[in-house]
Amino acid sequence: MVRIAVLTSGGGTNLEAILCAEEAGEIRSGRVELVIADREGCHSLKRAENHGRKAILLDRKKLGRAAFEEKLLEILKSENIALVVLAGFLTILSEAFIRRYSDRIINIHPSLIPSFSGKGFYGLKVHEAALMRGVKITGATVHLVNEIPDGGRILFQKAVNVEDGDTPEILQQRVMREAEWVIFPKAVEYMSAKIEGERA
Ligand code: GAR
Repeated sequence: MVRIAVLTSGGGTNLEAILCAEEAGEIRSGRVELVIADREGCHSLKRAENHGRKAILLDRKKLGRAAFEEKLLEILKSENIALVVLAGFLTILSEAFIRRYSDRIINIHPSLIPSFSGKGFYGLKVHEAALMRGVKITGATVHLVNEIPDGGRILFQKAVNVEDGDTPEILQQRVMREAEWVIFPKAVEYMSAKIEGERA
């Protein structure tokens, strides 16, 4: 069983989708052992507790980036974490950190990469940009994390229609419901099974 840590910065609906998929037996090769939030007030920590998972607040602003990463690494090591899942995590990790977990960090992005991705594209901003550009199809992407923001190998993508009258908020909800909450649990199982396979 692969030990998983989920890193979050907000509401945690993707975390919820992963935990539910696990509890429904759709994720069989890994288990979310801990959830970390990088700022105060993240509902994700409450969700983790509701599912009986360890929940840790590591306040990046208070700690500063270097101490934040040092503590994060310490925790991941002591918990023997093999897969790091970024679920709406808004801190950009250093190259040194990413190298340490090379091919072991995945992220979800709320667009079809390479559209509306990279530095400055996160959360609602992504959907605002998609509506501004007038695309008719958007979606979500799960990818491996490398040193280029949203630049790692693509693992899963799912398209979602843009409808007349969409606001960024409405589009965000549709992308989450139809794409993010569907492909993210699949990607977590895919990566966990891969890591387990490599160990055997
Ligand atoms: C999700 O839409 C996720 O794709 C996005 O933030 C939201 C987090 O929601 N992530 C990014 O924009 C990363 N670049 P959640 O906390 O409810 O899962």
